[in-house]
Amino acid sequence: MEILVTGGLGFIGSHTVVELIENGHNVIIIDNLSNSKIEVLGKIELITGTKPKFYQMDLLNFETLQKVFKENKIDGVIHFAGLKAVAESIQIPLKYYENNIIGTINLLKCMQDNDIKNFVFSSSACVYGFPNKNPIDEDSPSNCATNPYGRTKCFIEEILKDCYMANPTFNFTILRYFNPIGAHKSGLIGEDPNGIPNNLMPYILRVAEGKSDKLHIFGNDYDTQDGTCIRDFIHVVDLAKGHVKALEHINNSGLNIYNLGTGKGTSVLELVNSFNSVNGNLVNYDFVERRPGDVPVNFAKTDKAKNELGFETKLNIEDMCKDSWHFSQTKNKL
Ligand code: UD1
Repeated sequence: MEILVTGGLGFIGSHTVVELIENGHNVIIIDNLSNSKIEVLGKIELITGTKPKFYQMDLLNFETLQKVFKENKIDGVIHFAGLKAVAESIQIPLKYYENNIIGTINLLKCMQDNDIKNFVFSSSACVYGFPNKNPIDEDSPSNCATNPYGRTKCFIEEILKDCYMANPTFNFTILRYFNPIGAHKSGLIGEDPNGIPNNLMPYILRVAEGKSDKLHIFGNDYDTQDGTCIRDFIHVVDLAKGHVKALEHINNSGLNIYNLGTGKGTSVLELVNSFNSVNGNLVNYDFVERRPGDVPVNFAKTDKAKNELGFETKLNIEDMCKDSWHFSQTKNKL
């Protein structure tokens, strides 16, 4: 299939592009490079032997987007492009609402105008907010995000439901990611945020690289086995494969929602200990105050993706830690 991937040079987008190419799809990438680097395009070519067609552009630019749809015969769209820094979204909510929501509406309008039915949306487990049970299944309340970034995901899910009600010939697959970490085994692509990182693994890597003294672990007084929060960390390559599975099942599928996680909870401290045991003791840490808004425990029920898409993760926490560190070292050598 000919697949348009928005945000295709970003962390999850680039890994998904690699998997799509390796599964025989033709990929067209749109990316505005706001949180990614043009070099990633060459890295994708190094890994796959194929350089995807690339448009540096913003989804807010509707006229240019229309041209992309006119110039290509697109069979489906995977939509990653969006702003994703939680703290920033609290400071500048309108930018988040404008960028994430208008960008998605522009895409949907182009799809409608060009009679393109297949759409895979990059959502997040943050739509569950503070879940009342774990593992979390897809029927858990899902309009519960605790910050503007998360609410853009909730609102877009609602927009997709409305569009589907209006036109049930659309195929919309909503994928709710848990916590993606890791990197491609080549070490060529991985998570490389512009500016100060927001999430746990990029902070761990900063400490391992010697750029920060210590990792601050936010809270060791939660009601968990070691007092730190529990998350469902998923290897980004497994996550990327989940998108290929979603596309393989998208024809005539209607609107579907799937969790993409491993189904296994790992505490923040367990992740740091695994990182140290796999890579050498590189990360010192101390415990500090809880971070406001953090969900204590969050892991996925994965049966639906397994039963309906045939999706199962293969890589474990050690692989995630090893591959993240390998990417970090390779990046600093290049
Ligand atoms: C966060 C967002 C979520 C978003 C996701 C994207 C919140 C409330 N949620 O999820 O909406 O979809 O990122 O990946 O912000 N931690 C430390 N020290 C650090 C950094 C993190 O202890 O320096 C801890 C956090 O307290 C948390 C865990 O590590 O318990 C994971 O944090 P993070 O990687 O930011 O992801 P989430 O909070 O799960």
